[in-house]
Amino acid sequence: MTVTEIETEIRINDLTPFIGAEMTGVTYEDLQDPVLWDKVSTLLHERELVVIRSLDITSEQQIELASRIGRPKPFLMAKYRHPEHAEIMISSNAKKNDMAIGVARVGNFWHQDSSYQKDAPPYTMLHGIDVPGTSGHTLYANAADVYDRLPEEWKERIEGRTAVHTVAKRQRISAEHAGLSIAEFKALVEEQYPPVQHPLVKTDPTTGRRYVYGAPEYMERVIGFDANENEEFFALLDRLIQDPEHVYTHRWTPRDLVVWKCELTYHAATAVEPGVDRTVHRVSIEARDPWAA
Ligand SMILES: [Fe+2]
Repeated sequence: MTVTEIETEIRINDLTPFIGAEMTGVTYEDLQDPVLWDKVSTLLHERELVVIRSLDITSEQQIELASRIGRPKPFLMAKYRHPEHAEIMISSNAKKNDMAIGVARVGNFWHQDSSYQKDAPPYTMLHGIDVPGTSGHTLYANAADVYDRLPEEWKERIEGRTAVHTVAKRQRISAEHAGLSIAEFKALVEEQYPPVQHPLVKTDPTTGRRYVYGAPEYMERVIGFDANENEEFFALLDRLIQDPEHVYTHRWTPRDLVVWKCELTYHAATAVEPGVDRTVHRVSIEARDPWAA
């Protein structure tokens, strides 16, 4: 085999037994092959998380790939959008001329993306633009795997229950809230993001597996549980999600493309070491309108 053939060989393997598939040796041109793209889509839906290592693509190409999965959704806060591409949110601790170029410290706790919303976008896609290999890893756990590991007694206790999700636990006071009392700040958060309800146990349409929908940091309570039961359940859930035997640590390499199913994937960002810049481009992907042509 020649060196070129080795370099272009596409490899696909599972990242762990419980979550994730990894592709290496893939180029954007390779992804034009419908058979290969079909494989990416199948892996995403069956393994919940797909990592395409070192994929050299432009912002336009990232948006194009995202639009094959669903509909890229422009980020809410205009000032952190990519200047030329509203669909891309810049997640970064870097500064240019003393100004933050993106949102720093995004998702540094275990969560399922935007579960505090009524209709959270079902997929998230990240592209590693400037990523240190030594810190700023992303941790992933599988919500179906978490459900499987619940003691039978707890599976029965949560069956058919509904949970109240809220972003209030994670909202921090920032400059825009100057002058507000704590009560006023809480009222503002409640108004912007009113608590929503979701079934606590759901079934994935692709795999048929049951999964837990709700992370303690984004859940206020389980309806019908008293305060002690909520506390006990949240502590159990935290232990299961964070069990090191069931966590995949994604150590970024430059240009990695990472995409996951939001409801099935608990994840957390780890800290970036001081003095190091880290920039990732994030695209949130909504489901395609079933009524659209
Ligand atoms: Fe996230």
